[in-house]
Amino acid sequence: MYFKRIFTPGLSHYSYMVGDGGEIAVIDPMRDVGVYIEEARKANKKITHIFETHRNEDYISGSMELSEKTGAEIYISKYEDLGHVYGEKIGEDDEFRIGKLRIAPIHTPGHTLGHLSYVLYMGDVPYMAFVGDTLFWGDLGRTDFYGEDRLVEMTAHLYDSIFEKLFSLGDHVLMMPAHGAGSACGGAIEERDCSTLGYERKENPALQVDSKEEFVEKHSYMRLKAPYFEKMELCNVEGAAYLPGEVISNVLSLEDIQREDYTVVDIRSREAYSGKHIERSIFTSTKILSAYLGWIVDTEDPIVLLVDGLKDEELKTAYWTARRMGYDNIVGILGEGTVKSLEIEDTGLKSTKEIGAKEYLEMHREMLVLDVRREEEVEEDYPYMNRLNIPLQLLKERVGELSSEKEIAVICGSGERATVACSIMERAGIDGTVVAGGVKGIASQLKDRD
Ligand SMILES: [Fe+2]
Repeated sequence: MYFKRIFTPGLSHYSYMVGDGGEIAVIDPMRDVGVYIEEARKANKKITHIFETHRNEDYISGSMELSEKTGAEIYISKYEDLGHVYGEKIGEDDEFRIGKLRIAPIHTPGHTLGHLSYVLYMGDVPYMAFVGDTLFWGDLGRTDFYGEDRLVEMTAHLYDSIFEKLFSLGDHVLMMPAHGAGSACGGAIEERDCSTLGYERKENPALQVDSKEEFVEKHSYMRLKAPYFEKMELCNVEGAAYLPGEVISNVLSLEDIQREDYTVVDIRSREAYSGKHIERSIFTSTKILSAYLGWIVDTEDPIVLLVDGLKDEELKTAYWTARRMGYDNIVGILGEGTVKSLEIEDTGLKSTKEIGAKEYLEMHREMLVLDVRREEEVEEDYPYMNRLNIPLQLLKERVGELSSEKEIAVICGSGERATVACSIMERAGIDGTVVAGGVKGIASQLKDRD
């Protein structure tokens, strides 16, 4: 048997290739499909089947392009009509042979109504379950996509899918989810490389419940939904433009950017951005780009990436992550030496003011504290006089609420999100001061004083 798991950094997405004889099936391919074609070529096999677990909402699917390039058939769920322009609809009555392997879809609603999981059998024994966004390592798929009215119904579906359908396959079955730790699709996915249904049944914290009622009670809650998800949902039924193989290398000048009113996205480190950055640029370092870009920049906006001082590999990761999220209007880059030359010309640059924990504790009474953590993270965990909580994800929409005579101290867990927030505020003409080290820094400062 041939097996390959393809990890997409940034999105923390897993797609899978399974094969036998001369054939390979791909499960949930990402947008840039060259990797599957190359792997199949190396294995001297042909991609013949493409299976989708569900209509994805956090990245663009590569099914159509992969099908066109390989001739493979695409299979999608018959249990929900979303208006797909592609794919043959399948359900639990169907099964597929890949060489000696047998692949059978099972209907596992909860994350979406039509969600399918795929069970791979060795002979008559279930061997692997490709569970999409139903179940993750240490976490669950979210159940809030159909709104508050259907939250309880969808969460109850998820319980049945996991406890009745997946677990009846047997504890020994290898469990293959569509996302790993760091994905926007799960809040608490654990860092592990493999797992079985039995291990998750025993150890997954989200599954430690005594009844279906307890499960529904515990997991029926609404989460924030990034604006770019709507474009993804549309692309993944209507089909998105195919991707070129090359990373953009079009080097632009500051004049080009100002003339055309492009949005500069600064993907350097937090320290580099805070030290000196192009005025009105948006900061999301490469490590947090997939989590926040979708909240701050519209997918249609023309974007220029500031990559000064970064390695080629970092530009590559950021570029492909953005394209996989549907950012098709990346018009160029600002490369090596950009910041230095602007510094010499003394034009177009700004710094972000920062204070440390010690200064914060001395000054906070005179400040407005903007806490940009998610609501559920915010506790009475540090001293403040006036605090306003706006999660970073919602700050672009709510930045107008920030009228203050006082200096605004922006705080998060470590300082990274606070810096993103200050870049959003700068575009709205509001100055912010980052609390470097964030809540963690304040906690250790307070501990040192005890
Ligand atoms: Fe999903």
